[in-house]
Amino acid sequence: MYQLIDGKAISDQIKSEIAEEVKQLTANGGKQPHLAVIIVGHDGGSETYVAHKVKACEQVGFKSTRVAFDESVTEELLLAKIQEMNINSDIDGFIVQLPLPPHISEQKVIEAIDYRKDVDGFHPVNVGRMSIGLPCYVSATPSGIMELFRRYQIPTQGKNCVVIGRSNIVGKPVATLMMQKGNPGDATVTVCHSRTKNLKEICRNADIIIAALGSPEFLKEDMVKEGAVVVDVGTTRVPDTSSKTGTRLKGDVDFKQVAPHCSFITPVPGGVGPMTIISLLRNTLAAARKEIY
Ligand code: GUN
Repeated sequence: MYQLIDGKAISDQIKSEIAEEVKQLTANGGKQPHLAVIIVGHDGGSETYVAHKVKACEQVGFKSTRVAFDESVTEELLLAKIQEMNINSDIDGFIVQLPLPPHISEQKVIEAIDYRKDVDGFHPVNVGRMSIGLPCYVSATPSGIMELFRRYQIPTQGKNCVVIGRSNIVGKPVATLMMQKGNPGDATVTVCHSRTKNLKEICRNADIIIAALGSPEFLKEDMVKEGAVVVDVGTTRVPDTSSKTGTRLKGDVDFKQVAPHCSFITPVPGGVGPMTIISLLRNTLAAARKEIY
């Protein structure tokens, strides 16, 4: 029988731990952590994510600031706001919610953020420091996945780990973290992608599979060996007339087929998703404590 990795329960538990740490920090005369979030336009998904982030700040006792710009804001004005936040000593960390409208360069925006306040971990300095194992802000999804391995004490040392997907925000960084010295880590990592040959055979040899390619129910039972650990990072919205919102989330794993063959598996929703906000809170707390830089 497989064990379900309950990301929702773990994230609730970690939120209480962070709230406790904030209480102690401020009781000892420390500064209340402050996260600022910039949102541009009215993308429904982005507005929901930002609302969750602001609510999570409240739950753990952080101060939060939400700055909203209209879709038509110029790149120049957005960059000026970023400069202002870079030098505002009351703000410990801030993020610019992505995606941005097409007339604004995401890369320019990310690189304009002072890497010491980049609690999203998207700045090249943070990505580079992570890849050589230096203290840094690690981005939300890879960091959330590592926390699940830690909390469930899932052994990773010497295991064959297959990552499906090579994106900058999940596939590449999670592969880097899984191969790094440490626990979790010390795995033998294979990264598969759309040009990979023999994907099924490679997956069948895996002790751990991290599916992050964004293709609903891609991973089937004939691709998974008995007792494997499966982490599903997929979050594709599909139409569903039986749901209130008219859509529902589908993962990259055919859960019904695959779960009976697993030792551990993450569900969608309620697996990796709820863990991503935790990483943002942890990074902001570290920023307030000036732990990293
Ligand atoms: N859009 C989707 N995920 C993220 C995230 O983790 N950070 C930011 N800034 N934008 C996102």
